[in-house]
Amino acid sequence: MKGMIFTEFLEMVETQFSPEVVEEILELSELPSGGSYTSMGTYAHAEILSLVSNLSRVTKVDPEVLQTAFGEYLFKRLADSHPQFIKDIRSSFDLLERVEDYIHVEVRKLYPESSPPEIRCTSIDEYQMRLHYKSHRPFAALALGLIQGVGRYFDERLSIRVEPLSDAGTETMFHLTRS
Ligand code: HEM
Repeated sequence: MKGMIFTEFLEMVETQFSPEVVEEILELSELPSGGSYTSMGTYAHAEILSLVSNLSRVTKVDPEVLQTAFGEYLFKRLADSHPQFIKDIRSSFDLLERVEDYIHVEVRKLYPESSPPEIRCTSIDEYQMRLHYKSHRPFAALALGLIQGVGRYFDERLSIRVEPLSDAGTETMFHLTRS
């Protein structure tokens, strides 16, 4: 997985907890990379799972809650570092509908070693949509946070019902309602 996901994660931990917590989780996690990430590097996604699980040990916060909080933080950071992908987009549903056919397509061109997940949207009406997440990685809780981050970015109230389709967190249906 691209290094920017790791650098953003450690930055979030540093600002929301402390630099000492960053040190502690880097030490506790057995990281083949050694834990010095660069945004353009590529690293095993198992490393972020290990960092999240050790952050959970240290802070006593559930790992899924941490993944989701990170997702919400991450969306704003990705949007700010890739303004070209969102410049003409005006609402959360418009953005989410463009992740699969546009944003992640461009991401694959920019970062050839990346393999973003499948995000397929089905519009029901102006206020409701279904979003199907599928990946070879277990990041459904991160996807939930990213969707929440999109709602916050456009200052919309989104309610999200989560329907897991796999035990591992590799496939989930999100039922979204905006008001
Ligand atoms: C400006 C918007 C976005 C950008 C630039 C972006 C970019 C990326 C990048 C670079 C990765 C790492 C992929 C890899 O290294 O293999 C990624 C992963 C991911 N993206 Fe996006 N993304 C954006 C929006 C979204 C949104 C709105 C969702 C909503 C569901 C989403 C869902 C995910 C998930 C869940 C992953 C984690 C990897 C996985 O599940 O396999 N992304 N994205």
